[in-house]
Amino acid sequence: MNEDSQLRDIITARIAEQGRITFADFMAVCLYEPGLGYYTSPGRKVGAEGDFYTSITVHGAFGRVIAREIAQMWRSMERPAAFTLVECGAGNGRLACDIMDFLSEREPEMYRGLRLVLVEQEPSLESAQREMLAAHVERLAWCSPDEFASGSFTFSGCLYSNELIDALPVHRVVMTSDGLKEVYVASKDGEFVEEADEPSTPEIAAYLTRIAVELHPGQQAEVNLNAPQWLASASRALKNGFILTIDYGYPAAELYTPRRKLGTILCYYRHQIEENPYLRLGLQDITTHVDFTTLMKCGEQTGLQNNWFGEQYRFLLSAGIVEEIEEIERSTVSDEEKLRLRLTLKKLIMPDGGMGETFKVLIQSKGVNAPRLLCQRGIGR
Ligand SMILES: C[S@@+](CC[C@H](N)C(=O)[O-])C[C@H]1O[C@@H](n2cnc3c(N)ncnc32)[C@H](O)[C@@H]1O
Repeated sequence: MNEDSQLRDIITARIAEQGRITFADFMAVCLYEPGLGYYTSPGRKVGAEGDFYTSITVHGAFGRVIAREIAQMWRSMERPAAFTLVECGAGNGRLACDIMDFLSEREPEMYRGLRLVLVEQEPSLESAQREMLAAHVERLAWCSPDEFASGSFTFSGCLYSNELIDALPVHRVVMTSDGLKEVYVASKDGEFVEEADEPSTPEIAAYLTRIAVELHPGQQAEVNLNAPQWLASASRALKNGFILTIDYGYPAAELYTPRRKLGTILCYYRHQIEENPYLRLGLQDITTHVDFTTLMKCGEQTGLQNNWFGEQYRFLLSAGIVEEIEEIERSTVSDEEKLRLRLTLKKLIMPDGGMGETFKVLIQSKGVNAPRLLCQRGIGR
């Protein structure tokens, strides 16, 4: 029996037992059912042999530029002797490795007091992370998402994530002539069908009110209640320092524009985009764009300051990607590698068709007096 039919059976049985389920519950099973979900089953997800690319798989220069900014954060905090890095949604540890390599080579003083804590929903990835980060193993620690959310874990330093929030389960809503309805998943004649009815929780309407969004009649959208919850946990864990979030998405006014009538759900299977989340359960990724306004507003409510928000290309250019590529080029002889570097730069920062514009970077902080970040210098300084 393949994963798809096992997951179908699990969801169908759940619906038979408790009635229709929210789309968030459906998505949670598809992505995270132990042993069967997209992220919780074996197999390569990211990169050429997987289903999609992230900036990390494009080139190590991405992580090295983030490391430059993290070193600047450490300077803004007046070079503390101990500094903790936390990565949420660490996957196989590739990004962490690029960051740690840079800091060990270029920031020895900071590296001496550095600790890296990896938080990842899928526990079996720990062995891949151990292997990837073998050179830094004495600095590593792990924290489960449950422990992270419980409030018992605290740190000073920087928490970063790349494409975590787009992978959190979302509720789906639709505006009807009868008001805001939630989209539920039911089962009929062996098929999943959608039903719109009263929202399962008042938090959904409160979410839209907080960002002053009124959907137009017929408009569908997603509401990611897990995102503010995750940020609240992150903010509680942070004693002082920074939270750096990289993901694709928009401010609320742009995300919930009536032009996006069907919302932003997208599925990825072997580099093909698919809009139907009811296919290939557990074999295709299901994602949604991130609402950065909610992260900024909820951050403020939990004591964070918003330091910088903008497109990934602006972040990378002002934090030093050109210098990084030039440095790598100087140490690389082959013309083929030089060309590859140029193409990398293009892919990571191109506003049109590349990863540079839809991808955004948000930096928030707590307890740091007037931080001076590299990205705040602007492009073409
Ligand atoms: C889209 S992948 C991104 C992986 C990696 N950051 C990258 O950019 O290649 C999202 C990752 O977040 C993990 N994840 C999902 N929910 C999480 C949570 N609450 N805490 C930590 N990790 C989580 C998933 O298991 C998955 O490995």
